[in-house]
Amino acid sequence: MLTGVSHDLRTILTRFKLQLALAGDSADLDNLNQDVEDMQSMLEGYLAFARGEAEEDVGQLKLSDLMNRLTLEGELHEKTVTTSVEGDDNIRVRPNAFTRLVANLASNAYRYANTVHIDAKHSSKWLTITVDDDGPGIPERSRDDVFKPFFRLDEARNLDSSGTGLGLAIALDIARSHGGNVTLSDSPMGGLRAMVRVPA
Ligand SMILES: Nc1ncnc2c1ncn2[C@@H]1O[C@H](COP(=O)(O)OP(=O)(O)OP(=O)(O)O)[C@@H](O)[C@H]1O
Ligand SMILES: [Mg+2]
Repeated sequence: MLTGVSHDLRTILTRFKLQLALAGDSADLDNLNQDVEDMQSMLEGYLAFARGEAEEDVGQLKLSDLMNRLTLEGELHEKTVTTSVEGDDNIRVRPNAFTRLVANLASNAYRYANTVHIDAKHSSKWLTITVDDDGPGIPERSRDDVFKPFFRLDEARNLDSSGTGLGLAIALDIARSHGGNVTLSDSPMGGLRAMVRVPA
């Protein structure tokens, strides 16, 4: 995914720059030139960071610490958050990457819903983390598309333009790199249920 995204974006950015260069150097274009420069350095920075995370070593992470962090984040957004943990509190994952994976799912719930429940179950075979919310959910027909980089549902664009549509693509990438998966379904709370499952 990273390779695909970086290639596509670099191609478009190169085209932008070429067209800007051809348009001459009127002062009107200075802002546009600066925006393209900023976009390029953001993209490079993001990719460097993501590549670094992919190379992170497996280590220990405490589920309770992860839950506390996600709860705080929700409270900052003035959302109602509850959590539950069942089984061994210590998990072996790539800590930064795995934290980002669950944080991406939680941040979606905080963006699109008001009440959120995050549940972790750690058995001898699987680690399952479920994020339930009471938001608008995602219609069944779009549940594959939302994992595609930069794909956002129209309502999301109207609601809040600050997202980029990368959160779920990154989450799936990280889950797969742990040998697991992310699935979406209807939540008993009325909104979306996003579930991560990785081998314990
Ligand atoms: N909990 C949710 N409830 C309703 N819609 C959701 C939820 N999570 C994701 N979506 C929909 O799926 C789209 C893709 O989600 P994703 O996390 O990939 O991107 P984003 O949240 O729009 O931006 P980013 O995560 O990059 O800031 C969202 O734009 C939104 O339309
Ligand atoms: Mg998101």
